[in-house]
Amino acid sequence: MKTCFRLCVFVTLLFSGHSNPIAPLAGGDQDTLAENYLTRLYGLPKQPAQSPSSSGGEKRSSDMSLRLKEMQQFFKLKVTGKLDQETLEVMKKPRCGVPDIKAYSTFPGDYKWKKHQLTYRIENYTLDMSVAEVDDSISRALKVWADVTPLRFTRIYSGTADIMIFFATGDHGDGYPFDGPNGFLAHAYPPYEGVGGDAHFDDDETFSYRSPQYYTLFSVAAHEFGHSLGLGHSRDPGALMYPTYVYRDMDRFILPRDDVNGIQSLYGPNTDVNTDDSKPTPPVTPNTCDPNLVLDAVTMLRGEIMFFKNSFFWRSYPQSPDVELQLIQSFWPEIPDNIDAAFESVIQDKVFLIKGEKVWALYGYDIVQGYPKSLSMFRLRKNVKKIDAVLYKEDSNTILFFANNQVYSYNERMKKMDKGFPKPVQKVFPGMTGKVTAAFQYRGFNYLFSGSKMLEFGSNNKLLRVLNNNYFLPCK
Ligand SMILES: *[C@@H]1O[C@H](CO)[C@@H](O)[C@H](O)[C@H]1NC(C)=O
Ligand SMILES: [Zn+2]
Ligand SMILES: [Zn+2]
Repeated sequence: MKTCFRLCVFVTLLFSGHSNPIAPLAGGDQDTLAENYLTRLYGLPKQPAQSPSSSGGEKRSSDMSLRLKEMQQFFKLKVTGKLDQETLEVMKKPRCGVPDIKAYSTFPGDYKWKKHQLTYRIENYTLDMSVAEVDDSISRALKVWADVTPLRFTRIYSGTADIMIFFATGDHGDGYPFDGPNGFLAHAYPPYEGVGGDAHFDDDETFSYRSPQYYTLFSVAAHEFGHSLGLGHSRDPGALMYPTYVYRDMDRFILPRDDVNGIQSLYGPNTDVNTDDSKPTPPVTPNTCDPNLVLDAVTMLRGEIMFFKNSFFWRSYPQSPDVELQLIQSFWPEIPDNIDAAFESVIQDKVFLIKGEKVWALYGYDIVQGYPKSLSMFRLRKNVKKIDAVLYKEDSNTILFFANNQVYSYNERMKKMDKGFPKPVQKVFPGMTGKVTAAFQYRGFNYLFSGSKMLEFGSNNKLLRVLNNNYFLPCK
């Protein structure tokens, strides 16, 4: 039943077409925004034009509440059925215009190409980028999928291709008008004859080739082509098929595991590549419910706690029970994935991120110019080439560096190493027998992570508790 329901919603939204045009998203009016969002993406029936509130009012608000709950469930928000602030924030994010279907990574039914040789045609261009840049973005976006499947794409310049690509504004003839800048960026149709497979881009957006200040066409197109090939939206916030836009660096992009699984469930793997060649492994989105999660680094940033893992970080605000997962590259394109350590210097009001012998600095959320600098700025021993973790002690402005089971204590005010250091970790933190993998200080307590455990030490470095690593990262 549920399957049919979901499928019907999708089919209705995408194929019934040609009904009343949907009003553009109004900036100020939150209810209108919510109503448009739910109508377009969650199957809320359109408000009958003539009968506002009157008799249908009650039914309308219970419909709304139901769709809101589905939307909140999809985005793993608190399911209230009410238009709260958090829900509204998600609705305001730029995104794909294809409806969200909960719990399916592919459209149920038979939306898949029956052939592996597909054609595409770029019907027209945006003026935001050069023709060569558009061509290259499109071809790289298709290659994302060709790399992991037997699908092959050939460009044609006239006639009808399987995947027709164009840029248009507002109403563009398919019953799904675009909405001006931001909001919906693009949409695409699943595989079938006719409009199936086609991808439309909202030319009221500013697209770019590489520049993260604008919507990079590669990021948007790679996502849309997932639809063109039969994938629906994923609830995995790290997946390319997640509905909201994130900037992705096309030079270091690797298709995430969730998307690889989705597309290979339809078409199987790429049979042309050797399994033993050095292809990068598809990244798996880290999960706070994973009892074996080993964090890369943890730091405070002006009252927030940031937890780093692979290409992601979680932001946690002590005043809110929710944590937010983000891609490192979408915040700071210059900062690499898999960082070693991080800490906040209270004196300098900066956060330092360390990987290998390089150190980056953030002021608030901005990258500080003049970095990366060399790890030697902290005057560690010359043979220290990699840091496991850093703990910043606010009371004494000391920076404790953990490397090779040794602790280096750096006095930030004096800008030199404290006497008697390095010392074995166990001497400084009795009870800490394993390798320290991440560390931070919070409310006067010292938290040292070792593998999937977190040890809580008092300000005198006395071991108080052994906790699970998701103590601050609730499993939802
Ligand atoms: C591109 O083609 C589509 C479909 O024919 C049309 O609606 C749109 O206005 C065209 N866009 C540009 C930028 O020429
Ligand atoms: Zn989409
Ligand atoms: Zn369209």
